[in-house]
Amino acid sequence: MQMPRIMYGTAWKKDQTARLVEKAVRYGFSGIDTACQPKHYHEAGVGEALTALQAQGLRREHIFLQTKFTPLAGQDPERVPYNPDAPLAEQVAQSFATSQKNLGTEYVDSLVLHSPLSRWDQFLSVWRAMEALHGRGAAKQLGISNCYDPVLFQRLHQEARVKPSVLQNRFYADTGYDKELRAFCRERGIVYQSFWTLTANPQILRSRVVQQLARAYRKTEAQVFFRYLTQIGIVPLTGTTSDQHMQEDLAIFDFEIAADALPHIEALLV
Ligand SMILES: NC(=O)c1ccc[n+]([C@@H]2O[C@H](COP(=O)([O-])OP(=O)(O)OC[C@H]3O[C@@H](n4cnc5c(N)ncnc54)[C@H](OP(=O)(O)O)[C@@H]3O)[C@@H](O)[C@H]2O)c1
Repeated sequence: MQMPRIMYGTAWKKDQTARLVEKAVRYGFSGIDTACQPKHYHEAGVGEALTALQAQGLRREHIFLQTKFTPLAGQDPERVPYNPDAPLAEQVAQSFATSQKNLGTEYVDSLVLHSPLSRWDQFLSVWRAMEALHGRGAAKQLGISNCYDPVLFQRLHQEARVKPSVLQNRFYADTGYDKELRAFCRERGIVYQSFWTLTANPQILRSRVVQQLARAYRKTEAQVFFRYLTQIGIVPLTGTTSDQHMQEDLAIFDFEIAADALPHIEALLV
């Protein structure tokens, strides 16, 4: 399954995860982002939703399923989903086995390293363990998240045997909207996925440009911004819990922002 142009995010939904994922898929989302990180994600809830949907005829291959390996620094010490004393490669293997069990699937479409490890040798050994999962078909592609340093990302890209296919980052002004990283991704066919897209950018949603476009297309400001991102090749994540917003987020493909308006939105990414 190819990555869809917008993905449903499952963070912070706790015991509502299964209900919301099931609803999101019914409305038409086919990409789901989760993580083996009990602190923020109830991964087993995603699996529960998929099992219920599959019992009603959904085929696994019609869902693009993405999960993450979260290094120890990002885990709640009380709920680490692998043996924290095991060597890093073993932690990755154990975390992935937990994901397989939680999600009720043998493979994921995308496996993302939740954030770089501070030591390069450790970073690389985690990536090598992820490459091993890719090698046996358990992870169809690999990616990285929260990697804001272009030099580090390029080093990973250079040394990886299985190159990153995804960069999932917070999309906000503090990083200059990752302009350099996004250019690198574009050149190499790496998909840039954005999170915090609405939360971090109220000034863009309130801007005259976006408000005028919203009026012209009879869409909301959020829809205009999400649509813009998809038109420049970004895959936004939305974790909305609202029925209306789920439908609106999927309806962004009903319209297209005119090419001559795109630079006006780009000018807001500062
Ligand atoms: N890699 C990482 O470290 C990382 C970190 C954070 C998030 N993520 C991923 O990204 C996903 C999305 O997280 P996020 O931080 O971008 O925020 P989010 O969970 O999508 O929250 C967006 C906020 O905007 C509101 N909203 C208003 N209008 C909306 C519209 N039309 N569509 C969607 N939301 C609308 C939502 O409220 P309503 O619920 O009322 O719609 C919600 O309060 C997460 O679930 C997770 O999968 C990854």
